[in-house]
Amino acid sequence: MASNMAWGRLILILQFLLLSASTAAQNCRSVTLTASINTTAATINTTPPATQEALTDFLQQTTSPTLNFPTVLITGSTPLVKKYSISGKLCLPTGKSTGTLLFATHGLSFDHTYWEAGGPSSKFNFAASANAAGNAIFYYDRLGIGASSKPDGIKEVQSPVQVEVAHSLVTSIRAGALHQAFSKIIGVGHALGSVTTVGIAAKYPTDFDDIILTGFAGGDNVGILISLGAFGATIASQALKNANTPSNSYFAVGSFIDFQQGFLKYPFFDAATTTTIFNTRGTVTIGELTTLAIPASAPATDFTGRVLVVTGNNDHFFCAGNCAETVNGVTLPNVAAGLFPAASDFKSIVPLNTGHAINLHQSAPATFAAIQSWIAA
Ligand SMILES: *[C@@H]1O[C@H](CO)[C@@H](O)[C@H](O)[C@H]1NC(C)=O
Repeated sequence: MASNMAWGRLILILQFLLLSASTAAQNCRSVTLTASINTTAATINTTPPATQEALTDFLQQTTSPTLNFPTVLITGSTPLVKKYSISGKLCLPTGKSTGTLLFATHGLSFDHTYWEAGGPSSKFNFAASANAAGNAIFYYDRLGIGASSKPDGIKEVQSPVQVEVAHSLVTSIRAGALHQAFSKIIGVGHALGSVTTVGIAAKYPTDFDDIILTGFAGGDNVGILISLGAFGATIASQALKNANTPSNSYFAVGSFIDFQQGFLKYPFFDAATTTTIFNTRGTVTIGELTTLAIPASAPATDFTGRVLVVTGNNDHFFCAGNCAETVNGVTLPNVAAGLFPAASDFKSIVPLNTGHAINLHQSAPATFAAIQSWIAA
């Protein structure tokens, strides 16, 4: 009898835990915001590639270590005053809330689903890990991607323009656009999204309280060249069934082989999750490629929050496959500290057996736990 009661109680507890795991962790909704920008864009002296061969030639020149191609192409700047529609998702914790919002920007070749890889109960779902720790998260399709506006891929979709778009979103969110107040907003980026986040910290130093830069390092640009060389860049309308892109200035990673080369470390990624992410991958524009690193090319001298860098030891884009490489005795993830002379704290985490797309590797749960405990510290 006593033992039956104990079993009954245990079963009740187990049912409660199962329910909590499947339904209680997250409360997500789609949100469309307007980004208003008033800036100058780079004047890029090129036109959309007429053919696939012309696009391949563009990539070939861009990835030359000595042609200095992007710099040669930029001939000046042009005013850009626009309103764009940006499609995002807000996920709130259903349990105890910290009052903190993570503002997450994805990288090249992804869309917002990078932050929810594998779906609601997946161990690769970063947004779910944030919510479970009591943090809210807003993540979105960058300009030119998914359900967000897809303007001119040379004149408008540029890396520094992504900084202006994100700044406009953060300004709106701080003014109540999500119908909710947050005690802190932390910028989280992956890869080009980290470059965007650095650009915001540099130009708008009070937008974010703290920043987290994943898939990011400094000191060695060889990895960028070899990873873009292995991108298999394919005109988006030919690579993707539902690309819905306005011109050949939009392109995409060609094959899963190319995707693995730049983004994944074998055999430490999940086949099903990475295949889904690849099949719905985001595009890249000629304008972004030409202006890629500009937002992170000067230190964020006035940013006084904390900085966390989280980069896989085998990151191909930022470390050419080896983040243990040093420059003057400093590892590449720690070289990034030089961008933040006024930061109140700088820390790096380097998960082992992990490539550029850190969220898609078996190390993700441990990495996510480390990120959430850094946020709480
Ligand atoms: C854009 O900014 C400039 C000054 O930087 C200002 O003169 C102009 O009125 C602004 N345009 C809009 C539409 O806000």
